[in-house]
Amino acid sequence: MTAIIEINDLTKSYRTGKAVDGVTLTVRRGEIFGIAGPNGAGKTTLVECASGLRRPDGGTLRVLGLDPYEDRHALLQRIGAQLQEAALPDAIKVGEALRMYASFYDRPADWRAVMDAWGLSDRRRVRFANLSGGWKQRLFIALALVGNPEVVFLDELTTGLDPAARRTTWGLIREMRERGVTVVLVTHFMDEAEALCDRLAIVDRGRVVAEGSPAELIAKAGAGSLENAYFALTEREPA
Ligand SMILES: Nc1ncnc2c1ncn2[C@@H]1O[C@H](COP(=O)(O)OP(=O)(O)OP(=O)(O)O)[C@@H](O)[C@H]1O
Ligand SMILES: [Mg+2]
Repeated sequence: MTAIIEINDLTKSYRTGKAVDGVTLTVRRGEIFGIAGPNGAGKTTLVECASGLRRPDGGTLRVLGLDPYEDRHALLQRIGAQLQEAALPDAIKVGEALRMYASFYDRPADWRAVMDAWGLSDRRRVRFANLSGGWKQRLFIALALVGNPEVVFLDELTTGLDPAARRTTWGLIREMRERGVTVVLVTHFMDEAEALCDRLAIVDRGRVVAEGSPAELIAKAGAGSLENAYFALTEREPA
């Protein structure tokens, strides 16, 4: 097992209180690793710390052997991120966005090949504002990949997608894994976690309450499904 992300006793507070409260977890090279948990559990904060966007208060964090905050310029060359509430200027065209993102990297992929691989070539001249939600998501995946990253962070990538687009996106995420990319996937959908994730962590109130494969979590909770395991492990019952 090669660890690509190692998080040890990580803490991060805002003025509003503790968002991440002693998280320890390991992501292995080449896996799809899920992060699930209730609203406000600290998932986005954790992903923002791991991608160098926020400085943790305590603990240690290594991504590709680098300290994400101290070494963020080196790290940004090697990771891709689709962050929750991502946006682009309305007027930018699909091709322009990909070309611009590619220019941020020392060793980018061929942006035209990425555009082609993700089915975006026919929409190359379409402005961001005129793409449907599903095509925007597809563009965000392509943008996260145009730098040829070793690790990709996807924060609620499929929220707001129709069932067909969600399934299409699942296929795209599996394709990333087949290309050797390690994927960290924040999701609220337990069917999605069950279908895609090799392992996942369930986070509640800034802490990891369980970590393992979907089958291990189901067994640990003595539940019949990952969704029921989620409720048991977070001690949150549906209203
Ligand atoms: N920029 C910020 N300033 C102050 N408090 C914040 C900030 N961002 C997040 N928080 C708080 O930190 C906690 C964790 O938020 P975070 O966004 O990491 O949760 P999350 O698990 O991603 O939630 P969701 O499922 O709703 O996306 C919450 O209590 C939130 O209100
Ligand atoms: Mg979030």
